[in-house]
Amino acid sequence: MKNSLKLLPNVNGYFGNYGGRQLPRELENIFTEIEKEYLKIKDDGDFQKEYSSLLQNYVGRPSPLYFAKNLTQKLGGAKIYLKREDLNHTGAHKINHTLGEALLAKKMGKKKLLAETGAGQHGVALATVAALVGLECEIHMGEIDIEKQAQNVAKMKLLGAKVVCVKSGGRCLKDAVDSAFQAFVQNPQDVFFGIGSVVGPHPFPMIVRDFQSVVGREARGQILKMEGCLPDYLIACVGGGSNAIGLFHEFLDDEVKMIGVEPAGRSFKDGEHAATLTLGKPGNIHGMFTYLLQDKDGEPMAVHSIASGLDYPGVGPIHSFLKDAGRVIYESINDDEALGAFLELSKVEGIIPALESSHALAQAIKLAPTLSSDNLIIVNLSGRGDKDVDFVVDILARMKNI
Ligand SMILES: Cc1ncc(COP(=O)(O)O)c(C=O)c1O
Repeated sequence: MKNSLKLLPNVNGYFGNYGGRQLPRELENIFTEIEKEYLKIKDDGDFQKEYSSLLQNYVGRPSPLYFAKNLTQKLGGAKIYLKREDLNHTGAHKINHTLGEALLAKKMGKKKLLAETGAGQHGVALATVAALVGLECEIHMGEIDIEKQAQNVAKMKLLGAKVVCVKSGGRCLKDAVDSAFQAFVQNPQDVFFGIGSVVGPHPFPMIVRDFQSVVGREARGQILKMEGCLPDYLIACVGGGSNAIGLFHEFLDDEVKMIGVEPAGRSFKDGEHAATLTLGKPGNIHGMFTYLLQDKDGEPMAVHSIASGLDYPGVGPIHSFLKDAGRVIYESINDDEALGAFLELSKVEGIIPALESSHALAQAIKLAPTLSSDNLIIVNLSGRGDKDVDFVVDILARMKNI
């Protein structure tokens, strides 16, 4: 019988050749403890009951699977469905795993949740659940992202979190992760690293994947009910890769094609994109072995995307494995195409998507007309675009000035 791709990773936290736990010796025990506690609560009826109840009554799950009729008619070809993670409390998929992380941290007696954020969606989601369960919260964010995502910064502060402005390196997501790791090392006993995606040392890619896989579980049931069959394609954007694996995981053993969409940024020149799986090579970053955009010394390269949440030179090890296995295809969409999809969905369906999610939409907009009307595509609409409105309006105003 064929092995299920859903069962990964192995005991050392490897998905094929990727993942693992490259950590200073003094942190080894902490991560082993987190793994042990997670495996306990994974099978604990009371924990799962509390988590499910909060997903339903606090987050607002299940999120709808919406048939985008206007967009489908306009494009011709395949039917496009949107998995509406943008309708979750706090406006993105990030709440699915932060809620699980917060409950786990509380159970382990931790005092504080700490993490990095790019677009601010993860930071807002973590600050929210910290308030919910009664933990302190500290969020590290690059100076550039702080300027770009001012609304999310204000929200984090209102929710009671401390926002640390990161001024080192490129002042974006990778530097925020570096800074948060450094802060974590100072006090790993009391602090829980509420990592923002399926990245970092084992067991975090597994934990975040498991909590996010609610997205695909729901979508599978919903499409079977609405169409009586599985979809032909799943499409999701890939930063670290949590919303993508969240949608894909439940379908990995089915005959469903999957496309992960990376940011091609301004161009494929070094420093102008973050297309890790398209142009990177395996290397080490943030305690894991994975595809990485790196310079000749193996150091992470500067990256760029119009979407702060995709601005990361690494990627979750599960995606590196799925790429090499040929199970998922990884494409890239540039800043202009993503902006075009952002504007298109807003006008045609009355839904303003996050710039991150707009990368997945742009891929669907390219693909749908090449397929027949019998084909089905599900796009993970990972977040809403409220946080991006000021930034986009600014770009549009400047474009008219040229
Ligand atoms: C709305 C939204 N979608 C996608 C992402 C990318 O993260 P991931 O690849 O982990 O889903 C982010 C990150 O901030 C986000 O805010």
